[in-house]
Amino acid sequence: MDQTIKESIINVHRLAFGEEEGPEIAKLAESFLNHPDTVSISVKRDGQFAGNVLFTPFVFEDRPDIKCYLLAPCGVSPVFQGHGVGKELMETSIEHLKSIGADAVFVLGVPAFYPRYGFAPTDKQTPYPDLLTAPEAWMALELTPGTVGKLSGKTQAIPQFMQPHWWDTSGRE
Ligand SMILES: CC(C)(COP(=O)(O)OP(=O)(O)OC[C@H]1O[C@@H](n2cnc3c(N)ncnc32)[C@H](O)[C@@H]1OP(=O)(O)O)[C@@H](O)C(=O)NCCC(=O)NCCS
Repeated sequence: MDQTIKESIINVHRLAFGEEEGPEIAKLAESFLNHPDTVSISVKRDGQFAGNVLFTPFVFEDRPDIKCYLLAPCGVSPVFQGHGVGKELMETSIEHLKSIGADAVFVLGVPAFYPRYGFAPTDKQTPYPDLLTAPEAWMALELTPGTVGKLSGKTQAIPQFMQPHWWDTSGRE
């Protein structure tokens, strides 16, 4: 990916997540963009990068044949928020992930936003990363129906994502 495009995407996340969280989410986005298997979807408005969402590979050790991704981060620059960019990001990326044969996407995120696009809370049988402190916030979108029920075993995100900080939501809003 062109360096200018990468910087624009990183900047979208820096702005989207605000002064407190923005800088660290921007760093996370940068490390994900440097991973060869990350899927990056952007939406432009007025020729500028308005929003971006990243998907990184996510493997369940008992079913490495099932292709899963983790959704994070998803951000829209504040000036463009509330005008359908987030919706377009989600709809475009779901179509793209289907086209590359993805079976399911997982997210730990805004419970009021992701269910609009088909994400549903997982049940107690669905494995989640050991680092996750709030499994009730663990949601999944099946792109191949029936996928989630087939998953078992420990989970493996890319190394950049396996930091306790990203999974311990205690103390956050
Ligand atoms: C959350 C976010 C990605 C949504 O993008 P957006 O461009 O503002 O969203 P849209 O204008 O496309 O809105 C899509 C729908 O989601 C709703 N929505 C938007 N932000 C929402 C939020 N934070 N919580 C719940 N619903 C939300 C909208 O009301 C809209 O619903 P409608 O279609 O019924 O009108 C964006 O506000 C953002 O970047 N926020 C800061 C970073 C963040 O919290 N990211 C998500 C967690 S990883």
